[in-house]
Amino acid sequence: MTINEVHLITFSPTHTSRQIGEAIMRGLDIKEVVIEDLTKPCDVRKELPADALAIITVPVYGGHVAPLALQRMKEIRANHSPAVIVVVYGNRAYEHALQELDAFTGSLGFQVIAGGTFIGEHSYSNNAYPIAEGRPDEDDLAYAELFGKKIRTKIENAADREHLYGVDVKRIQRPRQPFFPLLRFLHRVVKFRKSGGSIPRTPQVDAGLCNHCGACVKQCPTGAIAKDNECNTDVDKCIRCCACVKACPQKARTFDTPFAAMLSECFRRPKENRIIL
Ligand SMILES: Cc1cc2nc3c(=O)[nH]c(=O)nc-3n(C[C@H](O)[C@H](O)[C@H](O)COP(=O)(O)O)c2cc1C
Ligand code: SF4
Ligand code: SF4
Repeated sequence: MTINEVHLITFSPTHTSRQIGEAIMRGLDIKEVVIEDLTKPCDVRKELPADALAIITVPVYGGHVAPLALQRMKEIRANHSPAVIVVVYGNRAYEHALQELDAFTGSLGFQVIAGGTFIGEHSYSNNAYPIAEGRPDEDDLAYAELFGKKIRTKIENAADREHLYGVDVKRIQRPRQPFFPLLRFLHRVVKFRKSGGSIPRTPQVDAGLCNHCGACVKQCPTGAIAKDNECNTDVDKCIRCCACVKACPQKARTFDTPFAAMLSECFRRPKENRIIL
């Protein structure tokens, strides 16, 4: 069978999930492309036809799919349309996220025909504490593109829609995780919690460095930063995605969470991307 239309549905404050989605699309090489980027405040209500393919790429927050991604997808409906679901995580772990996305997209009417777990630079990564810095790199993107090619072959090999089989994403291989660094991380988290240490609720801003260029306002997915008031952040709206931190050309915004050091030190070994189809 052939698919003539592909929809990339993504939520991606720091752009790594979107990059993976775009690489998969390149591999698929389908001419008719619709991009539904849910990162900015939006109200997307649409129904995908049965013969359209969806590529859905979202980040992992705390071992789950970023809640705002699910919220912004909830009015999308599918007519048993095939979907490829991908979670992108910062080299620690994705825990339940892929299964969660599978159940959620199923409830919208999609049939999941392929799944993937990819690595993206951690939102908290910085020069002092790099965490999966620079990922997805060339190899990651080449792998995502190859994944797209394999999905295309799977579709072409199916005689018709009835024969385009779904996958059980629970069977995807988990990445290797060395035991002692994980133990060290858990130990440090427990120690931090016991010490009553606090985590900042928004990025900090150095007013002396800010030149009010407005880049952070444009990048913020929740409208937590107001134009001409860039040195303040609405704590109730902030989801701590660090899009503003990465976008600030003056390095005026920082998110000094103690987790950055822990993650950087305990999850040094690059994890592998995994796919199932
Ligand atoms: C609030 C928050 C929680 C996160 N939790 C995890 C996590 O549990 N495991 C992990 O490996 N990475 C975690 N990350 C890192 C992101 O999953 C990772 O940086 C991802 O590439 C971001 O996607 P984006 O570039 O599409 O926004 C977290 C990031 C944020 C902001
Ligand atoms: S991106 Fe940085 S310099 Fe520009 S307005 Fe925001 S905080 Fe200020
Ligand atoms: S203000 Fe908060 S929600 Fe907005 S971009 Fe920065 S970290 Fe993300």
